[in-house]
Amino acid sequence: MYRSHSCGELRASDINTEITLTGWVQRIKDLGSLNWVVIRDRYGITQLVFDEERSSKELLENSKKLGREFVIQVKGTVIERESKNPNMPTGDIEILVSELTVLNKSHTPPFTIEDETDGGEDIRMKYRYLDIRRNPVKNSLIFRHQVGMQVRNYLSNEGFIEVETPYLIKSTPEGARDFVVPSRMNEGQFYALPQSPQTFKQLLMVGGMDKYFQIVKCFRDEDLRADRQPEFTQIDCEMAFVEQEDILNIFEGLTRHLISEIKGINIGDFPRMTYDEAMQTYGNDKPDIRFEMKFGELNDIAQHKEFNVFNTAELVVGIAVPGGASYTRKEIDKLIDWVKRPQVGALGMVYVKCNEDGTYKSSVDKFYDQEDLAKWAKRTEAKAGDLICVLSGQTNKVRAQLSALRMELAERLGLRNPDEFAPLWVVDFPLLEWDEETERYHAMHHPFTSPKPEDITLLDTKPGDVRANAYDLVLNGNEIGGGSIRIHDAATQALMLNHLGFTPEEAKEQFGFLMDAFLYGAPPHGGIAFGFDRLVAILGGQETIRDFIAFPKNNSGRDIMIDAPSTIDNEQLKELNIKLDL
Ligand code: AMO
Repeated sequence: MYRSHSCGELRASDINTEITLTGWVQRIKDLGSLNWVVIRDRYGITQLVFDEERSSKELLENSKKLGREFVIQVKGTVIERESKNPNMPTGDIEILVSELTVLNKSHTPPFTIEDETDGGEDIRMKYRYLDIRRNPVKNSLIFRHQVGMQVRNYLSNEGFIEVETPYLIKSTPEGARDFVVPSRMNEGQFYALPQSPQTFKQLLMVGGMDKYFQIVKCFRDEDLRADRQPEFTQIDCEMAFVEQEDILNIFEGLTRHLISEIKGINIGDFPRMTYDEAMQTYGNDKPDIRFEMKFGELNDIAQHKEFNVFNTAELVVGIAVPGGASYTRKEIDKLIDWVKRPQVGALGMVYVKCNEDGTYKSSVDKFYDQEDLAKWAKRTEAKAGDLICVLSGQTNKVRAQLSALRMELAERLGLRNPDEFAPLWVVDFPLLEWDEETERYHAMHHPFTSPKPEDITLLDTKPGDVRANAYDLVLNGNEIGGGSIRIHDAATQALMLNHLGFTPEEAKEQFGFLMDAFLYGAPPHGGIAFGFDRLVAILGGQETIRDFIAFPKNNSGRDIMIDAPSTIDNEQLKELNIKLDL
């Protein structure tokens, strides 16, 4: 038996018990005739004492040869600690060691394995197995497991069956590039790794599985951000014989269950907002509604004077920053510089200080009088003491810019409280989205999403106005899930692909299997997928998903621990019939 207890387990009630512990050496405090060693395992830390008088000189000497991260086994007696440590669960006791075995030595670790470490991101990723020994990382992984267990409990109780779908498939278009895998047995041909199990889960509905889920890896070759990884995990779900309302209810239930079980917070009905409303009110289809600062559109009350910047703009829109009237000139200039950064891209910013005495002082006093500014204040719901920030320009751009400013200010003002959870549904997404680069329409969600029946006639005349039965679940300003009611008949699917620019031959080549399946009694169906990494991170009070993934990739998509991707040898290339022309 390697151990009788874990390092997090022993208490005052265990005093005088003979025990065996195993763990890693965390700290050593050598006081000459006394040596204190703290050992750690996944469950906690325990203090060991080696004492010349109470143990033996030899044992004391041996304990002094230990180094950080040595793996040891000790036998000894639980004794009461003289100076107790109330911050440590095992802080009432220590172990008077009678036997020490070194199970494995360790090099000195390249960074300190403590809650606060001196290791930078790169070094921690290179030695991720050491990083995982640290409480913050270890606890994030345990937390992820707990969320996963709750997801499985809830969905199983609701009658969902977890079914695995293949990883070596044919490309499924979800808007990103595919990772591909060459096939040795089929010369010149490639599998694609799934961007999601989308078509398979639809085929499971045709197969009569009725309620499917899977906690599943997905692969997308896209640019990385804090909330994106090239391989990430979805809670992927699909249901047959459902309407949008059924899906929203079940998955609102799942989200509520998680927030209540994991965070102990009970949340009422989730607000719902149409895509148009979200864009108009927050300039964003994933609004953070933990705070106000709603957009006030000012065109009708700002385009009647000689101020040409506004007069020539498609949209003039402002937000009220709480308490912002007290900002100094310098602070406001800095804010203007912030919106002018290339990442935001505004040309400038107009501001209005709402003074405590009810008067207004603006950067455009030359053009607008107090009566005008009072109207702006009313529209942006600004109160005395607030600062109104106004941007203008092309509608989509100006919305994105003001939304970025809104989030930045909320961050600075501490309005993005990670312990508060504000979910909402964004519904009625447009079916299609114009792509400037390729100059054609793309499916905003994916090509299997059904248009709203009442909008189908617009497909030919105003494709951009067609709305879809598509919805996103947003939590604290992050898109944590998205789904739709699907097309379930071959004719509509063919029509849709036609509108997306596929010739009938291309459609058959790529999606013939799905349209064939629709000829054999496909039930009406729909579903959703949650970004599991994102959900876990946000429930854990963070927005960077890397910390909740055991072995994440860095910003260039590399795993710097195993050094992947890497070249393969010529033999392998030959076998795969791949000639590199570098
Ligand atoms: P979608 O593409 O919206 O839908 O993806 C669902 C959710 O997955 C998360 N997500 C990501 N998380 C981390 N890294 C990434 N690179 C990444 N990309 C997406 C997001 C997103 O909301 N098949 C459809 C779902 C359906 O229609 O049922 C799909 O994949 O949180």
